[in-house]
Amino acid sequence: MEINRISLFEIDSTNNYASNLMKSERLPHGTVITAQFQTQGRGQRENSWEGASDQNLAATWIFHFEDLKVTHGFVYNQSIALAVRQSIQEWVHQDVYIKWPNDIIVDDKKIAGILIENFIQGDDIKSSLCGIGVNIFQTHFSFPHATSLLLAGAEIASTDSFLFTLHKNLREALIHMQHSAAKINEQYLSNLYCANELIALKHNEQLIHGYIQGVDEWGRLIFTNESGAQRYQSGEIQWVWT
Ligand code: BTN
Repeated sequence: MEINRISLFEIDSTNNYASNLMKSERLPHGTVITAQFQTQGRGQRENSWEGASDQNLAATWIFHFEDLKVTHGFVYNQSIALAVRQSIQEWVHQDVYIKWPNDIIVDDKKIAGILIENFIQGDDIKSSLCGIGVNIFQTHFSFPHATSLLLAGAEIASTDSFLFTLHKNLREALIHMQHSAAKINEQYLSNLYCANELIALKHNEQLIHGYIQGVDEWGRLIFTNESGAQRYQSGEIQWVWT
C-alpha cells in the first residue's frame, strides 16, 4: 500500500513533530509520522504516554478537511476511534471496545489511546493531527490496566503490519464520515465499553454509581442514576477500574 510516511528513529512526540512541521509546510492529507522511540509521548489532558521503546506503534496522521464543521468534531473523533477499534479487532478474537471518549479496550484493559489536536478556523476544522499509540509487543506495564496485541493473542510479525491495517481503516473511516453521522453514532454506541452496565465513576473526588446510557452530539457522556441523567465532558469524570 502506498503510504506517505515520515519514519523517525527517536523524537519527543510524533504529535509535536507534526505540529512543528505544519508551521513551515503543508504535508499531503494522510501523511503519517511514525517513531520507534518517543521520549515525551503525550496523552489526553496533559497526561504522558509511555510506549515502551520500539515494541509499540506511535504514529501521527495529518488530515486536511474541505468541509468539517467544529460542530461535527465529535463524529470525526468517533470515526477515528471506530477505525482503531476495527483495526485491533482484525488481529484478535475477543471483543474490542471503545471506552468513552476514545480509549480502546481488550480484556478489560487499555490497548490503545488517541490524541487528536485540531487546527480550527472560524467554524471549520481545517486540519488535524491524529496521534495514535497502540501497544503491540509490550508485555510489562507500570499501569496495571494495560495490555497489548501480543498479550491479547495476536499473531503479528511487526508494528508495520498493524500500521498498514490502521492506515487502510482510517482512510475508509474518513470517507464514510462524510455520509452518516447517525450511523457512526450507532456503531460507536454498539461498541461502547460498559454501556448499560452498573459502574462507578469519580466526579469531584466522589464516587458516583450509575449506567452509561450513551453520548450526546457534543460528545458528552450521558450517565444515569437515581438523581436522573447527567452529562459529563471528557475530563470532568475519572474512570474507576475494577
Ligand atoms: C491517551 O490515551 O491519553 C492518548 C495517547 C496518545 C499517544 C499517541 S503515541 C503517538 C502520538 N504522539 C504522542 O505524543 N501521543 C500520541
